[in-house]
Amino acid sequence: MGKIAVCPGSFDPITYGHLDIIQRGAKVFDEVYVCVLNNSSKKPLFTVEERVQLIEEVTKPIPNVKVDTFQGLLVDYAKSVNANAIIRGLRAVSDFEYEMQITSVNRVLNEDIETFFVMTNNQYSFLSSSIVKEVAKYNGNISELVPKPVEEALKKKFSLD
Ligand code: PNS
Repeated sequence: MGKIAVCPGSFDPITYGHLDIIQRGAKVFDEVYVCVLNNSSKKPLFTVEERVQLIEEVTKPIPNVKVDTFQGLLVDYAKSVNANAIIRGLRAVSDFEYEMQITSVNRVLNEDIETFFVMTNNQYSFLSSSIVKEVAKYNGNISELVPKPVEEALKKKFSLD
């Protein structure tokens, strides 16, 4: 069996920063499941279906990427697809504490699943879905922050067309 990893997140919506991490993960693992999960501290703009559809569209050129969603614990999802690795992106030191907390919880829940951190390309170290939504809301230029289908979906959401 090949090396299977899960790349989890809220992806509300997917940005070039996420895509960078997914592409890097897909070079190392045989299969990468990009999974939209619920983050109980966030109130999403896009529905799960919309987020999945956008990820599917922009990851289409990467053959070993599959897109999925799960209502429940990340470690349970990972087990269900036979993944023993989780890929998370790190942008800056400010991400560290949050990521350490998630990783530690996941390790307590299932110590057989290892988390791997991938450093985002420097050009995306400031980028987040929240920043993108903020700029899009006020009709700012987001063409260098998100792929075209995401840009269009954001414009539609904020009725800027
Ligand atoms: O993109 P995000 O919001 O930083 O991703 C966080 C996410 C969705 C990966 C995390 O909240 C998660 O794993 N949610 C599923 C529920 C779970 O497993 N919680 C325990 C670990 S925090």
